[in-house]
Amino acid sequence: MAGTKIKSLYVCSECGYETSKWYGKCPSCGEWNTLNEEVREMSKSTSAAAVQRKKPSSLPVPISQITTEDEQRYYTGLKELDRVLGGGIVKGSLVLLGGDPGIGKSTILLQVCSHLSKILKILYISGEESKRQIKLRAERLGVNSDNLYIMTETDIEVIAEQMQSEAPDLVMVDSIQTMNDRELNSSPGSVTQVRECTNILMRAAKALDIPCIVVGHVNKDGAIAGPKVLEHIVDAVLYFEGDKQMSYRILRAVKNRYGSTNEIGVFQMGDSGLAEVENPSLMLLSGRPKNVSGTCVACTMEGSRPILAEIQGLVTNSGYGNARRMATGVDYNRMAMLLAVLEKRCGYFFSSMDAYVNVIGGLRLDEPATDLALALALVSSLKDMVVPENVVAFGEIGLTGEIRSVSHAALRVTEAARLGFQRCILPYHNQKGLVLPKDCTMELVTVRNIREAVSALGG
Ligand code: TYD
Ligand code: MG
Repeated sequence: MAGTKIKSLYVCSECGYETSKWYGKCPSCGEWNTLNEEVREMSKSTSAAAVQRKKPSSLPVPISQITTEDEQRYYTGLKELDRVLGGGIVKGSLVLLGGDPGIGKSTILLQVCSHLSKILKILYISGEESKRQIKLRAERLGVNSDNLYIMTETDIEVIAEQMQSEAPDLVMVDSIQTMNDRELNSSPGSVTQVRECTNILMRAAKALDIPCIVVGHVNKDGAIAGPKVLEHIVDAVLYFEGDKQMSYRILRAVKNRYGSTNEIGVFQMGDSGLAEVENPSLMLLSGRPKNVSGTCVACTMEGSRPILAEIQGLVTNSGYGNARRMATGVDYNRMAMLLAVLEKRCGYFFSSMDAYVNVIGGLRLDEPATDLALALALVSSLKDMVVPENVVAFGEIGLTGEIRSVSHAALRVTEAARLGFQRCILPYHNQKGLVLPKDCTMELVTVRNIREAVSALGG
């Protein structure tokens, strides 16, 4: 073709780094064996076009004259999803929904269709399943509507054309890794394809003001397969987390241009799809063992919601030279730090002990306020001392063993009281200014350091 030349490029499948030379190790992200060759047609006229003066598509406007009223949202019918989205799907936005295969991404999309197809025209595009498969699943979920259009297509240009001609009110694409731009020579799922297809969808969504939900698979490290750049393009990134073997699913926003990223939504997978769990604490605490050592309940904040979760610790004699440490649901380094603090400041020796920590329900706790419960679970297992089942604990532990105050103490205490807990171990400095509802009958045990916390339990 006149005006074009073919160029061979090497693109990193992890980070999207491009280079004209092959390397064994990506110079940008340091991953090995991730550079793949891609052939690209370069247009010679690009630089000439760039020089040409273009009419600007948008002119500067004083911020005082911009109105926010026209931001229109569609409620999905799933309160937990609406919460994570910051109050429903914003018109013209592009939302990326990530998660492991089989976690329930396609299921939640069909459930959203079930509610929204009553008022909106929805175009559901699948590159993974046949129409029959989708119909079978829809029947199981009780989804049936003349407003829900199913299309099995992988050509992104065709999809963009359909978006224009059909003018749906909402588009769902399952999944971006199966989409393909014919102009590019690389295979579907490659970094360039995924990025370009997302760009095309983004342009279509913005130009036609149609909201679009795109499914993205995650790789073995938990990132959305393909480049991180995908996350920069879209307006919101939601992740579905949770153990596939367990029925709980946690939906978390890692990026949201239209709301907070702290909120989580909790679902339970059942026979008729995903059911919302309005009271996650109750679910996470169900089946808790009674009168055993090595377990303590923590109260963590997920956005504006306090959530109670059970942390279990197991400390046993190490049979080998090196003591083993394993952390599930909490940060490994945080656990190692707490073990060091317990050893140095309280005299509990863990160095010849294996230590395992697990948070029940597949929840991930990354808030420092859960330190105290984690430390108590470990001490409880080490000393074989039971933390009474009506006790809940929260507080951040510093390197000198001090218990530091945390935010939203009143909310945490109130939630624990609502769930029937009677004693709360909390930081001393949180006592000041703690205003609890009148009917809250929680016994508050304030502690200054980890030693006081252990002795409050009789240790
Ligand atoms: P799916 O939505 O296909 O996952 P993804 O699109 O993220 O890959 O979910 C499939 C899993 O959910 C599958 O293991 C079966 C289970 N499932 C139920 O348990 N109940 C249901 O009603 C449905 C539709 C699926
Ligand atoms: Mg699927």
